[in-house]
Amino acid sequence: MSIASTPPTTPEASRAATRRTAPLAHAREHLRAVPPLPVRSLSASALPAVVSGGLPVPTLDGPTDYANFDHAASTPALVSVKAAVDTALRTYSSVHRGKGYASAVTSGWYEQARAEVAAFVGAREGDEVVFTRNSTDSFTLLSRSLPRDTSVFVFESEHHAALLPWKARQTVRIPVPGSAADAVVLLREALRTRQGRNRLVVLTGASNVTGEVWPIRELAAVARRAGARVVLDAAQYAPHRRIDLGELGVDYVVLSGHKLYAPFGAGVLAGRADWLDAAAPYLPGGGATKAVTEHGVQWHTGSARHEGGSPNVIGAIALAAACHALREHGEAVEAHEQLLGKALLDGLRDIDGVQTYSLFGDGHERVAVATFTVDGVDSSLVSAVLSAEHGIGVRDGKFCAHLCVDTLLDDPYAEGPDTAVRASIGLATTAAHVQRLLAAVADLAAHGPRHEYVHTGEGWVPVDDTRDLAPARPW
Ligand SMILES: Cc1ncc(COP(=O)(O)O)c(C=O)c1O
Repeated sequence: MSIASTPPTTPEASRAATRRTAPLAHAREHLRAVPPLPVRSLSASALPAVVSGGLPVPTLDGPTDYANFDHAASTPALVSVKAAVDTALRTYSSVHRGKGYASAVTSGWYEQARAEVAAFVGAREGDEVVFTRNSTDSFTLLSRSLPRDTSVFVFESEHHAALLPWKARQTVRIPVPGSAADAVVLLREALRTRQGRNRLVVLTGASNVTGEVWPIRELAAVARRAGARVVLDAAQYAPHRRIDLGELGVDYVVLSGHKLYAPFGAGVLAGRADWLDAAAPYLPGGGATKAVTEHGVQWHTGSARHEGGSPNVIGAIALAAACHALREHGEAVEAHEQLLGKALLDGLRDIDGVQTYSLFGDGHERVAVATFTVDGVDSSLVSAVLSAEHGIGVRDGKFCAHLCVDTLLDDPYAEGPDTAVRASIGLATTAAHVQRLLAAVADLAAHGPRHEYVHTGEGWVPVDDTRDLAPARPW
């Protein structure tokens, strides 16, 4: 692919709009080069349905159905989640603040939602389930609940939500491991560097960059033997694998509803009550207080302590509905994703000029995520082409895990890419979508984009974009 320069007009424009792709006059025939996948999606009836199934999207060559490979960022809602929300909206009212029928129903469902989530994560007797906004919020709540002298041990490969909320002087950063066994050794060594009564190890269940599943049980056992607690970042793990706090040997778990087919603004921090009950309320105000007098405030313990203000009950109900569906259909969901994930990764590895990435080695267990680059093609151009020409949604960049991506892409012998493309599979992805993605990437790697693109402040955009990207607003 050739890149031509255009004259800059302003300093910003000179930085942003200096690159332009040359149009390539090649035909659709190239897309037939990839043989059909030897896999089919599981029968749709075995899987929970999403509301966005068959979503029509415009491309530069006409409409197609949306091929969603961006589940690791946010998932569409399940049909059953939307139905639960519609039902809950009919009686929507205050939570723990009214005696009316609607308020009683809404308050009851809020607490039942908490119980459903507790069952989903395998919460133990005495564990708290606190509703938050998302995983970032959950980590921040936990960081503010640590006893004063707590040391935190965190791998540099973590998502920024798990890497950044801890105070610098209390944090021990562990280098990005080169294998699962290496992770265990590195954690053991790190725990030796700082002793103390209160220590917390931050672990991810599945990497948001590569999808690789971390050796949670082994790492948690190392932490436990050293007397440290463990918080599991299950933002990417919970949508794909069963969680059981006791069985995994972790103390806290963090997850996001919008990555779990319940995009209604709720997340969760669940786990041991003592630190949470001793901490200052996260959102001081109504709901968190037992009594307020002119002499002071008596705060609740339990989840109410950190859920000040009127809670997001619709988000909590949506999350509970998603947990219910995933518990019921977990095996089918995992089978669907394993099938398509393997076909995707194998297919990408077979394409000349495409590199795939892994932390722990090619054979390591993954949730259905593949991260790749195309030689000589900017990753943001790859994602622009996949969307504009093929109706495929992926993400490019460093995925809020800059240190992890920098380590993966670091090549001491060559000038390589500094960002990557992530394709993540979920319930909205079909075998035909995988086929389409592989054909599109093969075509791009061999021949470059079919249309002409320019790099602007918005990233790469088609020069003659005929798509309607601003349909009428939904309200
Ligand atoms: C592994 C991981 N942890 C935490 C987060 C933060 O989640 P949220 O944006 O819902 O706060 C993400 C989001 O991508 C993630 O992938």
